[in-house]
Amino acid sequence: MRIDQFGYETSLSSPEAALAWDRTVLAFLAHAAATPDHLGKVLSLEPGFAVGHAVKGLFCMMLGRSEMVETARAAHEAAQLCVREGAPLPRETGYVRALGAWLEGRPSGTVREMEAILTRWPEDALAMKISHATRFILGDNKGMRASVEALLPAYDARNPARGYLFGCHAFALEETGEYGRAETAGRMGLSLAADDAWGLHAVAHVFDMTCDSRAGLGWLEGREAAWSHCNNFRYHVWWHKALMHLDQGEIDAVFHLYDTEVRRDHTDDFRDISNGASLLMRLELEGIDVGDRWEEMAEISERRTGDACLIFADLHYLLALIGGGHQSAIKQLLARLHDDAKRVGSCEMMARMANPGRSAAMGLEAFGSGDYKTAFLNLSRARHSMQLVGGSHAQRDLFERLTIDAGIKGGFLDEAETILKERSVRRAGGLDRYASTRLDLIAETRGGWAEAGRLPAE
Ligand SMILES: [Fe+2]
Repeated sequence: MRIDQFGYETSLSSPEAALAWDRTVLAFLAHAAATPDHLGKVLSLEPGFAVGHAVKGLFCMMLGRSEMVETARAAHEAAQLCVREGAPLPRETGYVRALGAWLEGRPSGTVREMEAILTRWPEDALAMKISHATRFILGDNKGMRASVEALLPAYDARNPARGYLFGCHAFALEETGEYGRAETAGRMGLSLAADDAWGLHAVAHVFDMTCDSRAGLGWLEGREAAWSHCNNFRYHVWWHKALMHLDQGEIDAVFHLYDTEVRRDHTDDFRDISNGASLLMRLELEGIDVGDRWEEMAEISERRTGDACLIFADLHYLLALIGGGHQSAIKQLLARLHDDAKRVGSCEMMARMANPGRSAAMGLEAFGSGDYKTAFLNLSRARHSMQLVGGSHAQRDLFERLTIDAGIKGGFLDEAETILKERSVRRAGGLDRYASTRLDLIAETRGGWAEAGRLPAE
């Protein structure tokens, strides 16, 4: 029996395995590329450690890839065997049930298991981060905040995860509109944990949502060490920086970051595709030619039309297919989403495929075809439940931009203006470059219509 870095008992027996386990948890909290190496060491030293197998399975499920579900299932079987043949502690069996819930199509059950652990063992920062990450995937921003805030009193200066908890708090505050407190929490987190890429990135979100991209660039510049150790999350931080340059109208800098960081490695993780597709689409909405950059992502996305793991991933694969003009794969993905919608009760992710996924996908496809009226009607229908797609406000803002642009191009000026105003309210009343240009465009279009005696779209 070994005590972990938070002072809790584990069923690990060797000091080497206990050290590797502590490192696994800290690495996961920091989004470090070394996380699987540390976890691999734990399992090679102590293959009977049920939590190690369960966490491996949970990491696989978070990847949102159909081929990883089998690996997660095998990890669950290994974990269950450890439970039957070993002597896991009550806290540890919660992790095994959490993986089982996700495999049954109930990631909300994963969250419940983590919260049950945290009720008794609040300083278990691994459970905190898994709950946070799963809620992020489910689009549960209020739950994310409540979860972290319930834990704050338990994390004193001795807890090695205190900085990471502040980082999670910063992100949850930002996603619930508390921008000032989010910035403070993120800065505090980073001061306690220099590699807290999540907290650093939460502050970048604050500058995005408060329409201060120049200050955002100032925040990120010189702090590269906070995310250079990361797994593919580092591409996402570079994506944020590219967004800030886009808002500043610094298009050469956007393309430079796109080519040298965001899509440098042509990886096929859905989060990497989402960064790339989101950035190229935003550039195209500004009328900028992105060259042949869509093609590599469209090729990758062609292979993922049958995934059906996460609607967030599917919508970004669809964007890449639209950008690359891969018509047959677009049809395949849409047909699959229509089929998914018929199985709405089978699991929590299928419910999201049905709503808002299907309407959103139909809207994107129509936008790509130049049918802006249909695009607007479908995207605006999906809009009120887009939170369920998961991800952040900054990520889902692309869908908001596409809805607004479809509205303007389709003649729904009043509706587009209303969405722009609601978007501004979420941004503490601010207007970014995107909003300013669209408000100007709406005014110009109205002027043109008045001259021509034309009526708005009905
Ligand atoms: Fe982000």
